[in-house]
Parts: sequence; structure tokens; C-alpha cells
Amino acid sequence: MDIRMFVSGRRVKKWQFVQLFATCFILSLTFFGGLNDNPIVNHMKSYSYRYLINSYDFVNDSLTLKHSPEGATSYQYLINHKEKCQAQDVLLLLFVKSAPENYGRHSAIRKTWGNDKYVRSQLNANIKTLFALGTPSNPLKREEMQRKLELENQMYNDIIQQDFVDSFYNLTLKLLLQFRWANTFCPHARFLMTADDDIFIHMPNLIEYLQSLKQIGVQDFWIGHVHRGSPPIRDKSSKYYVSYDMYQWPAYPDYTAGAAYVISSDVAAKVYEASQTLNSSLYIDVVFMGLCANKMGIVPQSHVFFSGEGKTPYHPSIYEKMMTSHGHVQDLQDLWQDATDAKVKTISKGFFGQIYCRLIKIVLLCRVFYVNTYPCSAAFA
Ligand SMILES: *[C@@H]1O[C@H](CO)[C@@H](O)[C@H](O)[C@H]1NC(C)=O
Ligand SMILES: *[C@@H]1O[C@H](CO)[C@@H](O)[C@H](O)[C@H]1NC(C)=O
Ligand SMILES: *[C@@H]1O[C@H](CO)[C@@H](O)[C@H](O)[C@H]1NC(C)=O
Repeated sequence: MDIRMFVSGRRVKKWQFVQLFATCFILSLTFFGGLNDNPIVNHMKSYSYRYLINSYDFVNDSLTLKHSPEGATSYQYLINHKEKCQAQDVLLLLFVKSAPENYGRHSAIRKTWGNDKYVRSQLNANIKTLFALGTPSNPLKREEMQRKLELENQMYNDIIQQDFVDSFYNLTLKLLLQFRWANTFCPHARFLMTADDDIFIHMPNLIEYLQSLKQIGVQDFWIGHVHRGSPPIRDKSSKYYVSYDMYQWPAYPDYTAGAAYVISSDVAAKVYEASQTLNSSLYIDVVFMGLCANKMGIVPQSHVFFSGEGKTPYHPSIYEKMMTSHGHVQDLQDLWQDATDAKVKTISKGFFGQIYCRLIKIVLLCRVFYVNTYPCSAAFA
């Protein structure tokens, strides 16, 4: 009894100390107002916020819309495929965030990881791949591009488009498009994935993984390359600049890199619900998604074989486990050939195969200054 009280007493003290320390720390940083735009100070602030205070109660009335939900002002569909998912058991609804101009990328994706027929015949699973687009951003070429896009759509039936300008600063509109579409036309898909159009996805590995998760019946599932305690960028010259008006706190809730992430269907529904109640002016789509998820009590989990902005090393020992890698345009079809080759699975077979692959992975992944792709721990996974 005595010991227990002693222990809990110590705990309280320790906790109070941590809080006091964190508060002083943040206050002292705030005092040095002049250093506010210093990236190192910003990171220290955001990490202390994330790890010591660790309270994101701030998704409160200040971000919650007072009046009518966003739903009323949704953009119109210019191209749609309402029937795409109907009456089928869909394992994965896969959105590719792309631009109307990127025909070349669409075409390469259709031949590789975004090929629904390949997945059905070779991997025995139902997926639905859709390119999510706004309208062409160059006003001079808008009509011509739109015509080309409609022809492309007639050919492949895999484009959805809403009537907003397709641009970086409209990415959150595109996120809303995806979640609205998923909830309206495909709520029964077990998983939803969002991917950039310059990414590589190892479909055989991903499908195998998702099938196993489906068996367990996962919920509250959000996986990818997680960014923890990232600070908003206050440097006005940055592409990712976010004003204090838009977001006043020193750290974002955790979120996954936008390059590629997967969520379960219940998360798709919850995030959609939250997205209807929050101010969506924050244009970094995954951060907005993080705010929505946070409001619903969902936290992202890291998967070591989901890359962030980085390109993963080319090696069969890596391909054996890889899920996604970022920055593949020219080499997409070659990588697809190499990474899905049947030989990949044999290379790590047996005692020596395992040792060989582990060593290769250590050499390739455990280098210093090697960031935003698979972590060193992936070599031991
Ligand atoms: C929301 O958070 C902001 C910033 O911390 C605070 O000023 C405001 O009072 C909060 N609103 C509510 C309703 O708690
Ligand atoms: C976003 O789309 C809207 C609707 O088309 C447009 O008015 C606005 O200019 C776009 N924003 C950017 C930054 O492109
Ligand atoms: C959303 O937040 C922005 C600031 O980033 C503000 O200007 C705008 O009025 C807000 N919108 C609504 C509907 O509250």
C-alpha cells in the first residue's frame, strides 16, 4: 500500500514537472518573438508541443464552422461514374490525385499498378482505380484540354472531375471530392487509398497485406509514412506557407505523407463527416485530413515500407517487401517489371537468402542523411 502511494505520488510529480517544463519552454520561446520564423525554433516548439503537451483539443470552435456545412457548396461533377462500384465486393478504392494535363502518367499507371484487370486476374481482388481531377489550370488551353480529357474518359471510364481549378492550392477541394465520392458511390469498399500520380505502388504486396487486414476486420485504420509534430511553415516564400489566420498553433496533428496512404472504410466515413464541419481553407490536403481525423479520434500509424517524399533504392531485396515509393515517372514501367518479377520472391528464400537480403537492406537503408523513404528499422522488419 505504502509503496503504491509512493509510486503514484512520484508519477504525479513527474507529470507535473513535465507540464511545467513544457509550459516554461514554450513561453520562453514565445518571448523570443524575433526568432519566430526560425525553422529550428519552429521545430523545437512543435516537438515540445507534440510530445510534452500532446493535446490537440484545439480542433474546437475556432476551426468548426458556425453555420451551414460545406456540403451545400460542393462543386459539380463534370465527369462522373456513379456505377463504378455498384453491386460488387470492392477491396480497395484507389484514387490517383492527378492533373488533366498528365495523360502520360495516367497511361503508365493504367499499364502498371492502377490496372484493375491485372489485380482481378493475377491477385484475385477487386479494386477500383479512379483519377481525381479538377479543371485544366491553363485558361488558354482549358477547352482543348477538357475535350481531350473527355475522349480519354470515354476510352477508359476511370476519371472523375469536379468543377474547380486543378492546382496545388486547391488540393483540399480534391480531398473533399474523393471523400464525398467514396461516401456517396462506394461506401462499401473495404479500404480507400489516395496516391499521387508520380508514385509507385507494389500492388501484389499491398493486396496481400489488405487481404490479411480484411480477415482481421480492422477499424480506425490509417496507414502511411507518418509526419509527427510537424510545424506549420511561416516563411512566406515557401510553397507550404500557412498564415496564423489559417492555423495558429505551433504543430499540426500527426498525418501521413500525401504521396500515398490507406484508410479503412469506417475512417473514410468519419473523416468525411468531420470534413463537413471544419473550415477547409487549409489547403495542404493531408494536414486538413489530419485535423478531421484528429477530431474523430483517429491516429495514423507508420508502415516502414510506405515512403514519404523519397525514392527507395532499387534492389530486389527491397522489392520483396516494398509498398510505395515516390518520384517515379520515367522509370515506372521498368520498375513495375522488376519489382513484380517472380524472381523477387525467391531471392530472400532460405537461410542464406535471408542473411543476404538483410545485409543489403542494412547497407541501403541505414545510411545517415537518407531521409523520407524507408527507415533503417525496415531492414529488420
Ligand atoms: C479554441 O482554441 C483557441 C486557441 O487556443 C482559443 O482561443 C479558443 O478560446 C478555443 N475555443 C473554445 C470554444 O474552446
Ligand atoms: C480553386 O478553384 C476555384 C474554383 O474553380 C477557383 O476559383 C480558385 O481560383 C482556385 N484556386 C486556386 C489557388 O487555383
Ligand atoms: C475559414 O478560415 C479562413 C482563414 O483561414 C477565414 O478567412 C474564413 O472566413 C473561414 N471560413 C469560414 C466559413 O468560417
